Amino acid sequence: MIKLTIDNREVEAREGATILEAARKVGIEIPTLCYHQALTAYGACRVCTVEIIRKEWSRLSTACTYPVQKGIEVKTNSEKVKRARKMILEMLLARCPNVKKIKDLARDMGIEKPRFELDNEECILCGLCVRVCEEIVGVSAIAFFNRGTEREVNTPYEINSDVCLGCGACAVVCPTEAIKAEDIKEIRKIPLWHTELKKRKCRLCGEFFAPEVEIDFLKKKDARLGEEIFETCPSCRKKELGNKILYTNSRRRKYV
Ligand code: SF4
Ligand code: FES
Repeated sequence: MIKLTIDNREVEAREGATILEAARKVGIEIPTLCYHQALTAYGACRVCTVEIIRKEWSRLSTACTYPVQKGIEVKTNSEKVKRARKMILEMLLARCPNVKKIKDLARDMGIEKPRFELDNEECILCGLCVRVCEEIVGVSAIAFFNRGTEREVNTPYEINSDVCLGCGACAVVCPTEAIKAEDIKEIRKIPLWHTELKKRKCRLCGEFFAPEVEIDFLKKKDARLGEEIFETCPSCRKKELGNKILYTNSRRRKYV
């Protein structure tokens, strides 16, 4: 275990843990936007900036990417941190003035109106959607395109592509709600990606429950589970199968 100090508290963390993980473990809250515990940290938004002090030097770094090190002292709320975080949030608020989560974080730092010219974006280019699609779903249907002010997340396909499964994982992790998954009867829509997919009916209750391409993708991925499981909606599956399958995480299933 590694010993360090966070906000004057002695903390122990496993080797390889990040400052963010070590802080959260002892209940010290550091704001984040582009971090998700199930995904690789990317350090895009810089909202989690903290001050790291070792002997004579001190530097600012992102808590979600910085690994714990023996003897370092971390300040999550020093004047230096507050100044940096305030500037970061002011810029994010100027980019996305109507995103609630950013407005709330900015207000916590005393910012109501940014000094910069306002844009009207919803996406902060945090890359969570790109990472979840690649690392958890395993299809890489979303990617970053262009550079500088033209940079955006997008999909390299058009309506009804067979790349996007319409699973909605990107909408779940998006911190700004820029991505919305909509269910209209038998159709799943994700307007940001121009995705529109037909859903499959549950073999028991007859409700449309998930896009057909997603189900077919999962069937191929885990054929051992048998056809019926994939043709059954989550609530009927639970009623019918009870605890026969324990979902240990989104990728691995454990049989009992
Ligand atoms: S769409 Fe959402 S998840 Fe994707 S990069 Fe933008 S803010 Fe992040
Ligand atoms: S949460 Fe650490 S950089 Fe975004």
